[in-house]
Amino acid sequence: MCGIVGYIGYRDASDFLLEGLRRLEYRGYDSAGIAVANDASDVSICKTTGRIERLASALATSPLEGRVGIGHTRWATHGPPTESNAHPHVGGDNVVTICHNGVIENFQELKSRLESEGYVFQSATDTEVIAHLAAECLEKASAKASTKEAKQPFAVLVKAVKATLSQLRGTYGLVLMFRDYPGVIIAARLGSPLVLGVAEDEHFVASDASALAGYTDKIVYLSDHQIAVVTADSLQVTHRDLGEVRHSIESLQISTPDVDLGGYSHYMLKEIFEQPESLKNAMRGRLCEDDATAMFGGLNLTPQQLGGVNRIILTACGTSWHAALVGEYLIEEFARIPVEVEYASELRYRNPPVDPGTLVFAISQSGETADTLGAIREMKRKGHRTLAICNTVGSSIAQEADGGVYLHAGPEIGVASTKAYTSQCMVLGLLALYFGRMRHLSFDAGTRIINAFHALPSKVRAALQTDEECKRIAAKYCNANNFLYLGRQYNFPTALEGALKLKEISYIHAEGYPAAEMKHGPIALVDESTPSVFIVPQGFVYEKVMSNIEEVKARGGPVIAIVDHGDTRVAELADDVISVPSVEEFVQPIVSAVPLQLLSYHIALLRGCDVDKPRNLAKSVTVE
Ligand code: G6P
Repeated sequence: MCGIVGYIGYRDASDFLLEGLRRLEYRGYDSAGIAVANDASDVSICKTTGRIERLASALATSPLEGRVGIGHTRWATHGPPTESNAHPHVGGDNVVTICHNGVIENFQELKSRLESEGYVFQSATDTEVIAHLAAECLEKASAKASTKEAKQPFAVLVKAVKATLSQLRGTYGLVLMFRDYPGVIIAARLGSPLVLGVAEDEHFVASDASALAGYTDKIVYLSDHQIAVVTADSLQVTHRDLGEVRHSIESLQISTPDVDLGGYSHYMLKEIFEQPESLKNAMRGRLCEDDATAMFGGLNLTPQQLGGVNRIILTACGTSWHAALVGEYLIEEFARIPVEVEYASELRYRNPPVDPGTLVFAISQSGETADTLGAIREMKRKGHRTLAICNTVGSSIAQEADGGVYLHAGPEIGVASTKAYTSQCMVLGLLALYFGRMRHLSFDAGTRIINAFHALPSKVRAALQTDEECKRIAAKYCNANNFLYLGRQYNFPTALEGALKLKEISYIHAEGYPAAEMKHGPIALVDESTPSVFIVPQGFVYEKVMSNIEEVKARGGPVIAIVDHGDTRVAELADDVISVPSVEEFVQPIVSAVPLQLLSYHIALLRGCDVDKPRNLAKSVTVE
């Protein structure tokens, strides 16, 4: 949560800062601000509450000129979203200006001390303590500078930043500017992501690489405890304890069209329609017909280690947790390995028994979710092997796991996850096939699964044709206050995900339930104004779900049903029917998710909601 950017070079800094913040807005959008230093090293700040476009309008009226600057888009943790709590914050007598992503847990005790020493706080944020602390440490470091330090241009700054960071408990991605050192910005991270963009005579800083597409394709991923000293034409990375480290420059795989709307009215819609392609990308090079199995390049475990796996833990948050539930069904079915699905926020503070045969997968689109990162660290500490299923290349979870599988879905910008979810299900399907073929699964069964996977992109393309029907149904039910989503087996997670999508973007209360379990509570909600969405494709629980539909109809509840093409029985019972292509049961969650995403999208649109940036949410939840 919160996005930060920085620039130093020859351009007008505010141009990049604004564009970078627009691209990072998914990380938080309750207020924003930038600070720019002009050639006379005067630092000017512009902050606004609300969206980046308000900041852009303010800057259009009063531009900030200069070639060095930092910026921030906020998701409030400490202090409400007001202009004074918006970043950047300044420390001391305006000697330091900073932007911060993360949480400082000991801010209250630091604040009390600094206040008692005369520092005056302007905001209710935890961040401001870092600014004043940095000002204090800089004053001390300058006063005590040795002759050697005094000769090295930024030695004193690095010393001051290290002294500041050593007093913080919590997480941070930080960019700092200094009034008396106009030619440098410093970036530092612990637990919150930061990337640096390298180009000729200019450098960029951002919370993630999508902000840099089109500016440079040379990226340095900063690791925890690293501090980068950035000037227009140099970049030096230092480790908090180890001194200078060699940084490697990697190639950015994201292009500008990936982060543009591409003619769609919203990123969410664009990403829904990208699913045939993103699914192909998740499978690309990973299916081996000759051996009827899947292949992975980055698991980093020996065949013996993989063969010895006797229990799998899938841990995640939000939509990724729903994909984990689909994974549980797939892995248990194909590979007969017991699977537990754990909320990362719970797993990280539990103490489950350790067994050398347990393999832990962390599933995360962003690869930055604080709880998922915390859970994987805890599991590693206990001696488990850990693998990551992430979309964002080079993200913290991807780096910390022993190995993993990337989704290759391309940047997902809409806050509500769509294409990443179906790609996560896809990758879990590939893993289930892989583990299955190492165990009892026959060649024939493997081939059948591969064929179903290959057919998926075209089935999803056909499912996208339900768009008009979803729009019509959305208009009929968009004023409902409650929705139920019901499915069984593979489509129980689909029901959870359908309900979450609706809640997230339309603010309608929705509950997902296993269809039969509905009798133990949610059925009490059923009345003529509470629609129930049933996911009822052909399969071995079809008749069972039909009975559950009867139960809702008997109580006067409207029913919307997702059915297979050609199904006529459900239409006799349901009020509205959406037909999707018939597929094998184990890939149904991927196909059925599509009309549910579209239904939520259209309902949210009709209710006038901000589909891509729903209230109170952020795409990347980097706080606990
Ligand atoms: C937030 C997002 C969700 C996402 C969840 C987990 O809540 O709004 O869309 O599913 O975080 O994020 P991750 O990046 O770990 O998949």
